[in-house]
Amino acid sequence: MDKPTLFSPPKSFSDEANITDETIYQSSAANPEKYWAEWAQQLHWFTPWHTILDWQPPHARWFDGGTLNASVNCLDRHLSPRAHQPNLSDHTAILWEGEPGDERRLTYQELHQQVNCFASVLQQLNIKPSDRVVIYLPMLPELIIACLACARIGAIHSVVFAGLGIDSLSQRINDLAATLVITADYSWRRGKKLFLKNTVDRSLKNCPSVKKIITVTRDPNQSTPTCHLSPKRDLIWHKLMSAATNHYPPSHQAAEDILFVLYTSGTTGRPKGIVHTTGGYLTQVYATTKWILDLKPTDVYWCTADIGWITGHSYVIYGPLMCGATVFMYEGAFDFPNQTRVWQMIDRYKISVFYTAPTAIRQFIQWGKNLPALSDLTSLRLLGSVGEPINPSTWHWYHHYIGRERCPIVDTWWQTETGAIMIAPLPGLTKLPPGSATQPFPGISTAVLNSAGHSLPPNQSGSLAITQPWPSMLRGIWHDEARYRDNYWSQWHNQSYFTGDGARLDQQHNFWLLGRIDDVIQVAGHRISSTEIENALVSHAAVTEAAVVSKPDELKGEAVVAFVTLLPNRRPSPALIKSITKRVADRVGPINKPAQIIFTPQLPKTRSGKIMRRLLRNIAAHQPLGDTATLADPAVISHLTQATNSPSSKSARHK
Ligand code: WT7
Repeated sequence: MDKPTLFSPPKSFSDEANITDETIYQSSAANPEKYWAEWAQQLHWFTPWHTILDWQPPHARWFDGGTLNASVNCLDRHLSPRAHQPNLSDHTAILWEGEPGDERRLTYQELHQQVNCFASVLQQLNIKPSDRVVIYLPMLPELIIACLACARIGAIHSVVFAGLGIDSLSQRINDLAATLVITADYSWRRGKKLFLKNTVDRSLKNCPSVKKIITVTRDPNQSTPTCHLSPKRDLIWHKLMSAATNHYPPSHQAAEDILFVLYTSGTTGRPKGIVHTTGGYLTQVYATTKWILDLKPTDVYWCTADIGWITGHSYVIYGPLMCGATVFMYEGAFDFPNQTRVWQMIDRYKISVFYTAPTAIRQFIQWGKNLPALSDLTSLRLLGSVGEPINPSTWHWYHHYIGRERCPIVDTWWQTETGAIMIAPLPGLTKLPPGSATQPFPGISTAVLNSAGHSLPPNQSGSLAITQPWPSMLRGIWHDEARYRDNYWSQWHNQSYFTGDGARLDQQHNFWLLGRIDDVIQVAGHRISSTEIENALVSHAAVTEAAVVSKPDELKGEAVVAFVTLLPNRRPSPALIKSITKRVADRVGPINKPAQIIFTPQLPKTRSGKIMRRLLRNIAAHQPLGDTATLADPAVISHLTQATNSPSSKSARHK
């Protein structure tokens, strides 16, 4: 491999960076527990821990004996003067812009009050510590308030991305046996209203555990929400808040108490409820926000991820608020009312740190370099990337047209399961090779292993492993110990964590990520399992069988291709394609709609009845089929090639 050109951080950046001491890599590796305990000491604890790490593979406990509260670390801590720390009471915590252009601002003091009020509301509704609260809200400040209020009383929050559909929502509610759901009447998306409360109402037909729904009114000038309200079950957010007291003493949570459960797709039809606890999670999220995103109270920071994903939990809520930064939140679409929206907002709010995903950058590239050129963008000082590998040409575009060659780029590798960033540069220090996430964060140990668990030499691809426990690691899958062990720890006999990603190292010890090595599909950086989409497809009355694979997509990285077998009396038609697509959007969310539907009288199967996905992937990507010897019925191939070239399959293509 050629040595890539390296980009050194500008001196003006390094001079102000939170970390520039290179020896931190050696000192943290010499004693990782001591290093993590030093980070944990920077948080606010009610009682100190007695044990830093208790590692009984595959279960880790961090900071046992300690008690703390996440909302105190995000809020209360900034309101009373501390040594060398500014009082941030009147400092803006949340800066919000709605899609129509409406604006809201909450200072740390105001956010604290709102969180206290909502904590009292939760208590009045008899929500107890470790009860599960499902939050199905768009990007509104109330989403942050709801999460922090749960944390304040010790309830477990589980945010469901508001772009997911009724099946995804009811599955999560039932898995958690949640008693309360928080939603909004609607949200704006590309000039249209998305009626979220309606989706909740439809989901709840199959959710006996839910007792109450709280609805946020999107338009604060309206006295009642725009949705159906059922008198016994439905409550209105602002009415509850106006009657609540704004003082609620934080509960003292054990370090290992669950802070939240967040679902992510695996390879089956059942998403995994990833469990994160309090002390270790906050410690690593704080450390990585401070050193990788380099956040300071003076920053106006925009992470474009929705809070429905882990990136939003760790780097919209907990990390930046613990750092005392101003968090910018935007409700709507990037191209509304036109494709200059993002750059205009960066100028309007003087965003200094911008963290987004390669799929968004590819979209910006397609919209053209002339659009960011219309904006000043001089407020930016650091750029970030997350969700999938950023290829060098995308990196260079981002660096040149957005960062104007003044801003380092931090490419951050991590997962829902890791809770916080694991592999990334330290922006004041690392010389950046475009396209590589570079090195594990200090205190983190990763390796490229073969299936036997041996480390591979540079330039050989293998499987990315995490070889030591880390503070923000998942503590399990909600109520599924067997799956936890099998998914993440069986590969290397409880010795190392299996990430499911391929990777290779270069001669300089930089990690290059190579994408998923399992069957998980990653659309625009978000995971979905083929089975979840297949279940939605076969729930359509005309469909008898379906198989879903991905194909490479210029914008989204991967796009969903569905192979569908219809009932014998049904024929493909544009109307049928539309109704099948709508079915998927309804059940598992519009983001998971197939980009292409290919009708076939039969699916390719092995003699044991297993669908040959590799074959379907090759067909979808117009690649040679490869070995077809194990097919039960070779005639299926001619059906499939015909189907792929038929006009009905082409008409299934849509945005
Ligand atoms: C998967 C995790 C955690 C952030 C959002 C996605 C891929 C994530 C990178 C990166 C290459 C990346 C991996 C990982 N991924 N960041 N910087 N470079 N790949 O969270 O839904 O849990 O997905 O996203 O494949 O396993 P997620």
